[in-house]
Amino acid sequence: MSNNTQNWRIDIDTDNLAWLHFDKADASTNVLSKDVLAELSEKVTELENSKANCVIIVSDKDNGFIAGADIEGFTVLKNADEGVALIQEAQQLFDRIESLPMPTLCVINGFCLGGGLELALSCRYRLALDDPKTKLGFPEVNLGIFPGFGGSLRSTQLLGAPTAMNMMLTGRNLSARAARKVGLVDAIAPQRLLLQTAKQMALKPPSPHKASFLQRLTNKAIIRNILGNMMRKQVRKKARPEHYPAPFALIDHWVENAGRRGDMLLGEAHKVAELVTGPTAKNLIDVFYMMEAMKSQGSAKDCNAQHVHVIGAGVMGGDIATWCALQGLTVTIQDQKPEFLVNMMTRAHKLFKRKLKQPRLIREALDRIVPDIEGLGVQHADVVIEAIFENVEAKHALYQKLEPVMKPTALLATNTSSIRLEVLSTCLDNPSRLVGLHFFNPVAMMQLVEIVKADNTDDAVVKQACDFARRISRLPLPVKSGPGFLVNRVLMPYLMEAVTLVEEGVPAPLIDKTAKSFGMPMGPIELADTVGLDICLHVAEILTQDMDINVPTRLKDMVEKGLLGAKSGQGFYQYEKGKKVPQASDGNMPKHLQNRLMMRMINEAVSCLDEGVVENQQLLDAGIIFGTGFAPFKGGPMHHIKTEGKETMVSLLDELSTTFGDRFKKDDGWKSLEIG
Ligand code: NAI
Repeated sequence: MSNNTQNWRIDIDTDNLAWLHFDKADASTNVLSKDVLAELSEKVTELENSKANCVIIVSDKDNGFIAGADIEGFTVLKNADEGVALIQEAQQLFDRIESLPMPTLCVINGFCLGGGLELALSCRYRLALDDPKTKLGFPEVNLGIFPGFGGSLRSTQLLGAPTAMNMMLTGRNLSARAARKVGLVDAIAPQRLLLQTAKQMALKPPSPHKASFLQRLTNKAIIRNILGNMMRKQVRKKARPEHYPAPFALIDHWVENAGRRGDMLLGEAHKVAELVTGPTAKNLIDVFYMMEAMKSQGSAKDCNAQHVHVIGAGVMGGDIATWCALQGLTVTIQDQKPEFLVNMMTRAHKLFKRKLKQPRLIREALDRIVPDIEGLGVQHADVVIEAIFENVEAKHALYQKLEPVMKPTALLATNTSSIRLEVLSTCLDNPSRLVGLHFFNPVAMMQLVEIVKADNTDDAVVKQACDFARRISRLPLPVKSGPGFLVNRVLMPYLMEAVTLVEEGVPAPLIDKTAKSFGMPMGPIELADTVGLDICLHVAEILTQDMDINVPTRLKDMVEKGLLGAKSGQGFYQYEKGKKVPQASDGNMPKHLQNRLMMRMINEAVSCLDEGVVENQQLLDAGIIFGTGFAPFKGGPMHHIKTEGKETMVSLLDELSTTFGDRFKKDDGWKSLEIG
């Protein structure tokens, strides 16, 4: 045995089975870092020389198997050659595991992602824990790369191209049962039988899973070309190659190299190394760190909440209550009108069906929501979330009834999108207990929650709110109470500029197309229609009280006429059965169209940073990407300024303000802005 056993350990049992335990030292999660791989290589040498009957790889961490390769290893690469060397070393190691003389079995006890799944694929068998926490997938595409440790080779061989490529192109995870269905794992077992099943499989190895004839056919040259074109078409609907090159590079690589093992491995090494050292992957890796930074604002473990009481069962309150129940909490939901409660239960049922699938789990989730017209849940709740009309008097009247009844330790949160906490808390005996939990619409899709704090909000309350956000699997972003907080404040000038452009006669589809070519997931006009023009107008009008933004007359007129966007069937676009009626996006492109849209948002972002609305540049980029969809591959507004150059951006603002007016005047924050 080697002396160097920081992370891996081999135990030989009485049946001569070698149990290879992985427990990364000083870490809560197993990842494949450089030192872990180097040590694994030593263990593989031991196994190559051993007479064990079978090797069983297990994780000693309760939370899962392996979360992937260590991302930090990618960030230190100086050039693509270093990337090729790193990837090829791992590929050779996994080849050696695949070639071990005895059968190999991997026991997957939770997440098994990226490099972890590639390691599992180099074993002859995979056994997965039958539990909702088990997730198998290739999330690499979200980081701007694709599997490079033999994953594109082995997954397409084992599963056939359609299933394997779909996993790699979308980054979606499979549950244990879904993985068994497609042949990614050979067997599944509940926790109490997991190791026993592993032992049985090791002692009596079954015949390993193999791709069917039809699945193998999908990797043949003639089929590859056809499938490759279909895949490119599908991916193009979601991403552009100039913004997100990785999925396109993966398709090219597979079409070019599949069927030739050596070329598949070489292709992976070179393409992934090139991608990982390119600008998109660098920015997307930074986005990953931004998510980690938001996650570290709170801790689910520190949250003792069991019961949430939500007041207001409208668009937001109903969906917040539903989301909390989905996350295992007991929820009482109060509304002054019973019909809103009926509507929200119907919506909840729909979401649970989509997310939980199994009838028992759906029933249990529905049972966790208790409609509560009289508000009897308030006195028992650990968290009370107010989501009633955006009206100060109504909110004050409600808080005055809540405060004397609530548990003294319970969190009192508002979902207000535009009223300052200082204004809302004046009616409370203890104003320091009110915090904003600003969810975004649609709640089930938008991970970000702004944690709004006024100067007098208790720090412990802010922490409690961040912990709660983590408990319900959302990303908490502490922001200072101020007009529009962070997200609406940077979004509104951008949306208003877009409406101004429509007023000037620029076709809406052209504006949306231009924003999308910058990298926004949806154009501003379509976004306004989706949010609801009445809501946009309401928020914009509140912001005009503190900010220098002009609300275009066009927007007011449309709302007056009842043209509210998607929900009314007509906004800037027309909608049939909730779907936008397509409109041609041609027309003359006016000068500075893209700059006018984006620079208003970027200038406001600089202002927010200067005023300390968020703590630092990283959290600012995070909030704007996760709240507005700002081109993730550009890494957020601060990264974008760095890429373009601060001076260039300042000159652009000068030019825009000369041509289009003071709304483009550069914010004072540019003077002190230090871009790394
Ligand atoms: P909504 O109008 O859809 O729902 C409000 C609900 O509150 C209605 O069902 C109403 O019957 C109920 N309600 C009003 N006063 C009540 C009271 N005293 N007691 C019990 N129930 C009462 O409103 P929406 O859009 O859900 O907004 C709620 C809050 O969330 C507002 O503060 C809004 O600014 C904020 N918000 C809205 C977003 C959106 O996109 N709609 C996004 C983020 C925040």
